[in-house]
Amino acid sequence: RSDLLKIASRRFALSEIDNPASVKRQLAQLFESSLRATVPDEPDVVPLVDACAVKGGVKFGDYQCNNAMGVWSKVKGKQTGFRGPPAIGEAILNNLPPSEMIDSCSVAGPGFVNVVLSKKWIAQRVQRMLVDGIDAWAPRLPVKRALVDFSSPNIAKEMHVGHLRSTIIGDTLARMFEFSRVECVVRRNHVGDWGTQFGMLITYLFEKFPNPDDLSEAAIGDLQALYKASKVRFDSDPEFKLRAQQAVVRLQSGEIKYRKAWKQICDLSRAEFDKVYQRLGVQLEERGESFYNPYIPGVLEKLDNLGLIEESDGARVIYVEGVNIPVIAVKRDGGYNYFSTDLASLWYRLNEEKLEWIVYVTDIGQQQHFDMLFKAYRRAGWLPKDENAYPKCTHVGFGLVLGEDGKRFRTRSSEVVRLVDLLDEAKRRCRTSILERDTAKDWSEEEIEKTSEAIGYGAVKYADLKINRLTNYTFNFDQMLNDKGNTAVYLQYAHARICSIIRKSGRDIEQVKRNGEIVLDSEDERALGLHLLQFPEVFEEACTNLLPNLLCEYLYNLSEIFTKKFYPNCQVVGSPEETSRLLLCEATVIVMRHCFYLLGIEPVYRL
Ligand code: ARG
Repeated sequence: RSDLLKIASRRFALSEIDNPASVKRQLAQLFESSLRATVPDEPDVVPLVDACAVKGGVKFGDYQCNNAMGVWSKVKGKQTGFRGPPAIGEAILNNLPPSEMIDSCSVAGPGFVNVVLSKKWIAQRVQRMLVDGIDAWAPRLPVKRALVDFSSPNIAKEMHVGHLRSTIIGDTLARMFEFSRVECVVRRNHVGDWGTQFGMLITYLFEKFPNPDDLSEAAIGDLQALYKASKVRFDSDPEFKLRAQQAVVRLQSGEIKYRKAWKQICDLSRAEFDKVYQRLGVQLEERGESFYNPYIPGVLEKLDNLGLIEESDGARVIYVEGVNIPVIAVKRDGGYNYFSTDLASLWYRLNEEKLEWIVYVTDIGQQQHFDMLFKAYRRAGWLPKDENAYPKCTHVGFGLVLGEDGKRFRTRSSEVVRLVDLLDEAKRRCRTSILERDTAKDWSEEEIEKTSEAIGYGAVKYADLKINRLTNYTFNFDQMLNDKGNTAVYLQYAHARICSIIRKSGRDIEQVKRNGEIVLDSEDERALGLHLLQFPEVFEEACTNLLPNLLCEYLYNLSEIFTKKFYPNCQVVGSPEETSRLLLCEATVIVMRHCFYLLGIEPVYRL
């Protein structure tokens, strides 16, 4: 567990992402050339640049270069003339090429080189974004085709909060890839439509409707009730159980009557899932487990020819590196399982769909499953030995959703919480709080409805996304709908407030953008401008580590800087700085809205 957290902990991997708008990367380039000049005999030294943290209430600069100590340990004892890290820091500073980005530099402590950016440069960059649009800040991932396998609920079982997490996180990852100029991002719903549960369901249905003509989707009715009732029969009646097992075989061998009932169940389930996706505004393309069934024998044969398949206790198994127990690819009765399907679906994704990065979003409990899948593929030579090389597969795990009692989130009667009910409740609470306000009478019914949805659904999404996905999170309506603290409601208020400032100015913002100029004279204006400019590097880090919570943290800090520093100290409308400050407001809402967009949250313009 702690290992997992370590992997996901914040670290800035200088990957092959092309991200020209990143301030950090631009500075890294300057330091790179300084390092080449400072220690020409150490070509392997890579620049380590980071935003400065506040220490004891003070910041020594905006960014710092942390190479001096590392360089010292390399050159110590060699004939370089350096007498310690501070001297190396001085040399790094002196060898920095001149740049309009930098206002001043200094060396602190054991050779840290601190950089203060030029406020003029910051202002110009923010202004450029206003003119060119936020897309100009998009990085480029080194792949053209990526797939996010997410949501993926199981047919005839209720979609539960675990699937909600997968849906929300997966949707954001897909949006992040899309923003990163990946040409084709497949949003794949790998629904569980091929499990043994169908034998049980169909047998139960045939018992209830002996005449096949009576079997319609309306007659099937509530799928969850059907699942429960048939499970009771399955567990209590051995004769039923036997028939159910035979039904699986008959279904899988394609018997018409069985296929038909199967399809009816799937259609019904799909309609239920779609309601949730529609409310959440999530696009998905369904291709369920059943699709890959015909591909399983061929893939297994290829693996067999490569010598990967072994016999164990009647089952056919695969051993992978670092795991003692093998994984079962074909069960003793000759049947296929979840693993066999994923062996085939991955083959299809790599060879037929030519995908370069395949991301699976499920709870952490499935980590070993995916680990073994990827290792089997590496053993077969179907994925590169280097885990970071493309084509690449990544399992994006997440923790549990807990209830107030610290246990798995359930209803009071310990049933799985239905997603639809949950979203209804979030919306209902938002509606109530809007109606309670004095201003409610000025709102149309449509506006109230739309706003409660945007705020309610957005709050559920944000509460999930803001937490490092590997940790469990406690579901709590009161907390997520609070208008103070790190919640979507607070962020929506901040956004609506800025929109209202811009509205109140009565100025045509498009025209201000063309003719006005940003000037960052006060400390608070500068802090806001700098934070805006840091979006590209934060986004890159979120993308590299597939951690949407970094975007939430950024968005929250942006709102805080605006609300607590800029807003109280910098009058906008009617001040001599009105034009510049309006532009800063506009840049802030643009970046905020873009973050909302990536998080799948609908912004509210008035609250
Ligand atoms: N249906 C599975 C579940 O509910 C998730 C499927 C994830 N995707 C995959 N290719 N195995 O746990």
